[in-house]
Amino acid sequence: MDEIDVEAVRRATPGCGDAVHLNNAGASLMPACVSETVVRHMRQEADLGGYEAVEILGDQARDVYSAAARLLSCAPDEIALFENATLAWRAAILALPFEPGDKILTGRAEYTSHRMAYVEIARRAGVELLVVDNDERGELDMERVREAIDDRVRLMALTHVPTNSGVVNRVAEAGALAREAGIPFLLDACQSVGQMPVDVDEVECDFLTAAGRKFLRGPRGTGLLYVRSDVSRWLAPWMPEIGSMEPPWSTETLKPGAARFETWETSWPLRMGLGVAIDYALKIGIDRIWARIARLSQLLRAMLREQPGIEVHSAGRTECGIVTFLVDGIDSLSVKCELARRGINVDIASHWCPTGESLVADSCVVRASVHYFNTEDELRALRDALSSFAASPSRHAAA
Ligand SMILES: Cc1ncc(COP(=O)(O)O)c(C=O)c1O
Repeated sequence: MDEIDVEAVRRATPGCGDAVHLNNAGASLMPACVSETVVRHMRQEADLGGYEAVEILGDQARDVYSAAARLLSCAPDEIALFENATLAWRAAILALPFEPGDKILTGRAEYTSHRMAYVEIARRAGVELLVVDNDERGELDMERVREAIDDRVRLMALTHVPTNSGVVNRVAEAGALAREAGIPFLLDACQSVGQMPVDVDEVECDFLTAAGRKFLRGPRGTGLLYVRSDVSRWLAPWMPEIGSMEPPWSTETLKPGAARFETWETSWPLRMGLGVAIDYALKIGIDRIWARIARLSQLLRAMLREQPGIEVHSAGRTECGIVTFLVDGIDSLSVKCELARRGINVDIASHWCPTGESLVADSCVVRASVHYFNTEDELRALRDALSSFAASPSRHAAA
């Protein structure tokens, strides 16, 4: 596999000239072709009128669906578009017909909004929540998943890559278990799509959600939902609206495919930008992107582990581009602010006690997330910046 031309992708990314951007799990930097697409379509809306601008798009308006389908190895009509991944995920889970006594099987890696939704669904529908523990490496424990499955489980809902660690859960194994037991499988792939190959048939999921702004390098305000065609045939949206219907909009005429989960009103400039972002990633090659992210993140972990006063959190068997750590004696928000002052973008992420049931996070970790356009020099810049204030004797003397 040949290498990515990093210089070329950096030249095509206006934000690369400014800060060291290691917040790709938050929102990555858009390539110029993406931001220019959004701006061009926005201007067209201003010049022509919003509805008229969409009409002249014609078949081009479908490009984003076919790009997403190529990315995930599915059909374009198995894709629905949303303003973010949470709305996409919500559209899937709310559509499922739960009854009192049903169980939802999930893991410890769920995103906070999903944890909140589970609690609410359990309260409203009388559903039991089954939270499977991680193994000793912090990955979802597949043996426990197998043991937890029974005939009351109506949904398996898991996260591929958590927001707050470099773990990659072995979701294909979970998918095979769900398929065997005939349980629908909803996969949150917000932090994995764009970072590593994700194929809905390999994972055997029935629903998958992804965010546009993260490793896909799309604009903010974009998210997508994959719904397997066998499932959308029998599943109606929780609340139909004109976007989910064929004219003449009676509730008898749900659209075929995933489109029935969408809403009619949307931002076409952002959708067009997302389509260009996905095409851009596909042109570079997801395998090549993943190989470079894996190499850079391993390098970063190794560099930080050598630094006194920094505790790097270990990830699972497969380590991805999210690198989390704590700096001895300095809270994570202050670390983020110190780094921002030095022109380095990172974020903080909530850290959960692995066995805790609480919705309140125990603490925050610093999260540096690398993408293929980052360089080794940028990783060294992060290490040097951290070493300038981590484990400094004067700080310990003052403490
Ligand atoms: C693992 C994971 N799932 C879901 C989400 C929610 O995505 P969005 O903010 O697009 O709704 C995030 C956002 O950071 C995430 O990291």
